[in-house]
Amino acid sequence: MKKPYYISTPIYYPSDNLHIGHSYCSVAADTIARFKRMQGYDVYFLTGTDEHGQKIERKAAQAGKTPQQYVDEIVAGVKKLWELMDVKYDGFVRTTDDYHVEAVQKIFKKLYDQGDIYKSEYEGWYCTPCESFFTETQLVDGKCPDCGREVEKTREESYFFKLSKYQDRLIEYIESHPDFIQPPSRAKEMINNFLKPGLEDLCVSRTSIKWGIPVTFDEKHVVYVWIDALSNYITKLGYTTDNTELFDKYWPADVHLVGKEIIRFHTIIWPAMLMALDLPLPKQVFGHGWLVFGGEKMSKSRGNVVDPVVLCEKYGVDSIRYFLMREMPFGADGNFTNEALFNRINSDLANDLGNLVSRTCAMIEKYFGGVLPAQNCVESPDDELISLAENTYKEVCKKMDELQLSNALVEIWKLVSRCNKYIDETTPWVLAKDEAKRDRLGTVLYNLAECVRIISVLIAPVMTKSPAKIQASLGVDESLTTFASVEKFGQIKAGSKITKTEVLFPRIDIEAEFKAQEEAKKAQEEAKQEKKTEVKKEETVPAEITIDDFAKIQLKTGKVLTCEKLENSDKLLKMTIDDGEKERQVVSGIAKHYSPDEMVGKTVVLVANLKPAKLRGVLSEGMILCAENEKGELSLVSPEKAFGAGNTVR
Ligand code: MSP
Repeated sequence: MKKPYYISTPIYYPSDNLHIGHSYCSVAADTIARFKRMQGYDVYFLTGTDEHGQKIERKAAQAGKTPQQYVDEIVAGVKKLWELMDVKYDGFVRTTDDYHVEAVQKIFKKLYDQGDIYKSEYEGWYCTPCESFFTETQLVDGKCPDCGREVEKTREESYFFKLSKYQDRLIEYIESHPDFIQPPSRAKEMINNFLKPGLEDLCVSRTSIKWGIPVTFDEKHVVYVWIDALSNYITKLGYTTDNTELFDKYWPADVHLVGKEIIRFHTIIWPAMLMALDLPLPKQVFGHGWLVFGGEKMSKSRGNVVDPVVLCEKYGVDSIRYFLMREMPFGADGNFTNEALFNRINSDLANDLGNLVSRTCAMIEKYFGGVLPAQNCVESPDDELISLAENTYKEVCKKMDELQLSNALVEIWKLVSRCNKYIDETTPWVLAKDEAKRDRLGTVLYNLAECVRIISVLIAPVMTKSPAKIQASLGVDESLTTFASVEKFGQIKAGSKITKTEVLFPRIDIEAEFKAQEEAKKAQEEAKQEKKTEVKKEETVPAEITIDDFAKIQLKTGKVLTCEKLENSDKLLKMTIDDGEKERQVVSGIAKHYSPDEMVGKTVVLVANLKPAKLRGVLSEGMILCAENEKGELSLVSPEKAFGAGNTVR
């Protein structure tokens, strides 16, 4: 019977489209899953989407959709992306799926019944984008310590999970299981920064969010974030249902692959939950680094996201998968730049691998009519090449066991480079000129073909398209595409029909590519600008409002007492305005249309109850009204009769 192997990615928030940083984790998990399948494991690879919470609720409302409609559309896109990138998962869990909802409710109830969850009151700060509560002391400059954004003060009745109860057991477990948290630096971080200073109980329900899993015994609460999200790893396997076949077979997971910012949840909250449920812990949580862009984590709010669909369509899925796996040192951050991508494609793929394959096949075609010659004249440096080829799989296995994907590729490329050097050393084109060297030429080409075959097998977990193309041109059958077939050199059969391959990795003309990118960027900017103008036009016809809506706006007349230009701005004027009750300061963007002198003494119409805001750091308490014509010229709105300050406008 095959040995089970269970690997997971985190479940992704479907609040925006996923970017290339997200696909790093999925491609890494897929690569490991493919590797393990090829090794003969019975693999279960789980991924999915984390669909509840306030952020989704808000985004859906903004889009005029129900949360369910909203997530359904994005999740369809996520699945399409994985299909495009050949991420071949065995299970896709959605936290809105019935089985998940029911299981989470059962888990919550069980923990409540056994006293691990209790009701209390929560007071703290909530960061909506991160869906996280923070205590006063955790805030950094009054903002979210994770993302730096504004937080909201919240106080509400909540259920709490007794996380503190598991603190000592967790420390002991982590210390006695050195493989549990990888890389090891992360384990130290968890112990020293979180566990030793002491754990607080965890708020696990909310009454202010509607889009979540209802707590069955107290319906005004929904289960909040982590109990919902983390349970996915077992709910998809049927935990708490009548059919626990998958759960019995695959749990505990062999590895949860997660980004470094969520290691804490996976190595503290999740294990504590599992301890409370009396379940075994995952064998390993591996925290990978981020794919950074311009030195920062890719994120929509920073505007530095790179679209994986565009990349795959432009440069091919194999190139992108190879780049992701090769460029990111596992566990550390990796930088995404176009230069790095193009260099990998041109150097590692087009020059090294692509050339090796095409030269080998072309020479066999040219010198032996496409029929693979036999290996019957072994000479130096064949031994060295052969032993490297036989050893490479072992070296790759060692790296893969440590989830060092990039280094596994380095091992394979040692063989690629050795082969290219072997061609230079043996100079087949010189051998071909001497009929007496025909056996030697045949042997050289046999060795190369066999190495190319071995390489094609070893790269198969990372690259999903090229290996089959290489194997087809080598004319090998399925039995020669397995890991078992690469441990011993000499498996490819003399007499096989070899054909030339298509160009596997076209070279990128880097200069032309950058120029094209510049132009595309310019066109995009222009399109954006056009869209903005269109939106602006649309904005001039806003939706109908009721008289009650209008009544919310307090309009009154005001008299401009003083006016001056705002320093460092050619658009803004700063005024003091008498509104009939008090003097207030208003900053207005009319400097291109009115001079300060012109403004003093004018009666204007004020939006008096507009929330004060700072413009260029200067407080503005209200807004004055202007009419704007199609040329963008402004004309102040002013009562037609000589009214003074403080009159109502309606
Ligand atoms: N929903 C939670 C996970 C719950 S798991 C029980 C979440 N979702 S996420 O969509 O924000 O992130 C999913 C994964 O993508 C995380 O592991 C995160 O680290 C990873 N990445 C997001 N941006 C990334 C990069 N720029 N680079 C590498 N991985 C990145 O967190």
